Amino acid sequence: MLDRLDAIYPVRYTALVLCVLAALLSLFAWIGFGVGGFFFLLFASLSALGLWDLRQSKSALRRNYPVLGHLRYMLEKIRPEIRQYFLEGDTDEAPFSRSQRSLVYARAKGETDKRPFGTQLDVTANGFEWINHSLLPSTLASSDFRLTIGGPLCRQPYDASVFNISAMSFGALSAHAIQALNAGARRGGFAHDTGEGSISAWHRLHGGDLIWEIGSGYFGCRDAAGRFNEDKFKANALEPQVKMIEIKLSQGAKPGHGGVLPAAKVTPEIAAARGVRMGVDCVSPAAHSAFATPMELLHFVARLRELSGGKPTGFKFCVGHPWEWFAIVKAMLETGITPDFIVVDGSEGGTGAAPLEFTDHVGVPLQEGLRLVHNTLVGVNLRDCIKLGAAGKVVSAFDLARAFAVGADWCNSARGFMFALGCIQAQTCHTGACPTGVATQDPLRQQALVVSDKSERVFNYHQQTLKALQELVQASGLQHPCEISARHIVRRVNENEVRLLAQLLPSVAPGALLSGAQVQHPVFDTYWALARADRFGLA
Ligand SMILES: Cc1cc2nc3c(=O)[nH]c(=O)nc-3n(C[C@H](O)[C@H](O)[C@H](O)COP(=O)(O)O)c2cc1C
Repeated sequence: MLDRLDAIYPVRYTALVLCVLAALLSLFAWIGFGVGGFFFLLFASLSALGLWDLRQSKSALRRNYPVLGHLRYMLEKIRPEIRQYFLEGDTDEAPFSRSQRSLVYARAKGETDKRPFGTQLDVTANGFEWINHSLLPSTLASSDFRLTIGGPLCRQPYDASVFNISAMSFGALSAHAIQALNAGARRGGFAHDTGEGSISAWHRLHGGDLIWEIGSGYFGCRDAAGRFNEDKFKANALEPQVKMIEIKLSQGAKPGHGGVLPAAKVTPEIAAARGVRMGVDCVSPAAHSAFATPMELLHFVARLRELSGGKPTGFKFCVGHPWEWFAIVKAMLETGITPDFIVVDGSEGGTGAAPLEFTDHVGVPLQEGLRLVHNTLVGVNLRDCIKLGAAGKVVSAFDLARAFAVGADWCNSARGFMFALGCIQAQTCHTGACPTGVATQDPLRQQALVVSDKSERVFNYHQQTLKALQELVQASGLQHPCEISARHIVRRVNENEVRLLAQLLPSVAPGALLSGAQVQHPVFDTYWALARADRFGLA
């Protein structure tokens, strides 16, 4: 009912409209009958406040909920736990805790991210983790940590930041959000992954580095039947703004599950960016049509790399059946084709919308998935020519440090940057009624997100997170985050025992999988021999 009304007139402006009406009424009463002066002053001030809310650029929430939006901040000050009833899904079910989000907000706003009085974490709890420091901390000149992505078959290696914006499509996010992310990436010299929704005009506006993601819908490079089209691919891939090509095999929040953007949400802009028709559901099938075997996948990688003029080309996936991943590695060995990078997405990853069973119970979590991929490549001596990216609840510098320790060379974050854009985790991304204009195609709601203001926050969040990472690296006496290994992180396993991550996580010796010998690791010992390069299924 409210949504239908909202389509006619923005219901969320009601508080302001009522204040203006009450101010007018009390003015008449005051002039006419000499009463109501106090109410006129009260409602006139609230109306002025509401009109100011509509004009200011700092808070998207107040721009979308003039007058009413202040309630959230007041409650935040008074009793944080009441706040969850006002526009913010800050319950135990929420994916990110209040302290995780407030750290991002503080860094994005350039406010102090320092905390007084010591840790609020329970250091006696199982699973509590820390990084050990050194008595000889290092001193580093810069926090602009980078890596070169591009293996032996790549002609245009990319000088990448160790922290980038993870894939989120235009369509899942608003045009203003895409602009703010890309402008922030441009200023900070880091990369912005397009997501499977392809490259839109809003990605091109600010010129920030792009990672172009090719999903099973082949948006931006498809023919009328939805199959991959080389010419359309080349047209986009050869653009200088495109730095890398990423084939999306799956994302952690809904692996093996395609996606549909309902016809009603396919705006002319989305249709243009994706190369699809208006008024028709925009479908991302669960599987690709350009390849059906591990060998074909690698030939597709080689083809896209060639068509893009030799740019780094790789794929993103959430680990599922281990034998399917093993089959891809065997195909690398048989074809001699290697991707330049692989992004491992944890099942704890986010999405614009997915069935609960998928978000909760399908796919391998980041730690186990990343470690398996790292170990397999070490086991076949391909680790040095393939860079590993990691995504899945990476928002703080310690999350980055832990991912490096497990095996990553760089990290991507999606929801971390959404928080930097002003997301309050209302979890209404799938309704189009996002209160902060981040995940909506509603023109009025998204105008609340002021690009110049939010791109600054995206830039700040990135900078401040890398600064915090620099402090961690220095404290551990290291020179670069990629030196952080499983020996540096410690985890409590029970109240009296702790272990190094290196003692808890499995490792495979270099080349060990090539000898055919058992590596004393159940998954490898059970499935490695059974995996075949010519099929994803077991032999
Ligand atoms: C709104 C939204 C849209 C997303 N769209 C895509 C997408 O198009 N392609 C993709 O590979 N992953 C997509 N993802 C997954 C993210 O890129 C990322 O891998 C995952 O959320 C883990 O990162 P996070 O925990 O930092 O959010 C999306 C995530 C969100 C929250």
